[in-house]
Amino acid sequence: MSKQLQAILVGCGSICNAWLKGIKESDAVAIVGLVDLDEDQSVKVAEAHDLQDVPRGTDMVAMIQQVAPDAVFDCTIPEAHFTVTTTALAHGCHVLGEKPLADTMDNAQAMVRAAQDAGLTYAVIQNRRYQDAIRSIRACLDRGTIGNITTVNADFYLGAHFGGFRDRMEHVLLLDMAIHTFDQGRLLSGADPVSVYCHEWNPAGSWYDHDASAHCIFQMTDGLVFNYRGSWCSEGLNTTWECDWRIVGDKGSITWNGGNQIHCEVVKKTGGFISETEAVDIPIETPEGMYQSHKGVIMEFVRCIREGTAPETVCTDNVKSLAMVFGAIESAESGRKVDITV
Ligand SMILES: NC(=O)c1ccc[n+]([C@@H]2O[C@H](COP(=O)([O-])OP(=O)(O)OC[C@H]3O[C@@H](n4cnc5c(N)ncnc54)[C@H](O)[C@@H]3O)[C@@H](O)[C@H]2O)c1
Repeated sequence: MSKQLQAILVGCGSICNAWLKGIKESDAVAIVGLVDLDEDQSVKVAEAHDLQDVPRGTDMVAMIQQVAPDAVFDCTIPEAHFTVTTTALAHGCHVLGEKPLADTMDNAQAMVRAAQDAGLTYAVIQNRRYQDAIRSIRACLDRGTIGNITTVNADFYLGAHFGGFRDRMEHVLLLDMAIHTFDQGRLLSGADPVSVYCHEWNPAGSWYDHDASAHCIFQMTDGLVFNYRGSWCSEGLNTTWECDWRIVGDKGSITWNGGNQIHCEVVKKTGGFISETEAVDIPIETPEGMYQSHKGVIMEFVRCIREGTAPETVCTDNVKSLAMVFGAIESAESGRKVDITV
């Protein structure tokens, strides 16, 4: 690998702008090709990001053969992730792809095997992990401030009027959004999913064709419980996109509004009906060397490829977050608790 990671970007739609913005701020990556089935899209992106001199095309394999990149950045739609990723791996490229890892669990498992067989890295963008506040809370949990974690709750309430394909999509909240929250839940709890019970419904007056609200109870490893309540069809008092959180430990609790408001109380004295507590400040700090959001995932991917190590969102780990999504859907459809195995 040369000084810069040479990458081609496949799928020049709306989210690739977040990638290219982060990439432009650093000299760690050279974009050496742009691919989209729709030629107009790659032209637009080249113009918007000053990449007019970069080769463009509609055929990823031809582009790989032309420019021999180290990696493929997959920003295509979920249904294309399987083909783009397995083809890129078969042609010797590492892959960093947009969430979700795959559109089905069978495809996800085949993609994980393909990366392992090729001895290459396939990692996934989970940008909501790469934020100062969530990392500051995680660091506080690692210090044992609230003791052993027993319960994690996440509330997600947004009245999102997308007006496009999402209004027609089945399991829209679980498939398109909840992967972020479930993955954040794994980061905050430090636990992996064991089983899930999910109830999904479409609230009266919904502007969605299918269920846009869901409640999930996840049993996690270490006896921990992760509760998710979400809706994309809820007007007023919106939460942040990062959710409202409550983390309960055996020595105290933390609440977080997904933004800059973090509160923590720990037990000072027990013996009475309600224990005496004191507030603990959790300063929001940037972990050394970490960048925010998409740039954070991309820069960690580049560093790991260079060092031969596994990024945090490598497919072998991220598949556990995806399994929470498909477990929840199976539970909602069957009306029963579902074991989650990866
Ligand atoms: N991480 C985040 O916060 C976040 C936010 C939005 C979307 N996403 C994810 O990003 C991905 C793309 O979403 P989007 O909103 O940019 O979609 P989009 O429809 O705007 O763009 C997708 C582009 O991919 C192209 N494409 C589709 N199949 C292709 C293929 N086989 N080869 C080459 N190009 C192909 C399409 O022509 C289109 O230009 C999805 O997986 C979505 O879930 C992530």
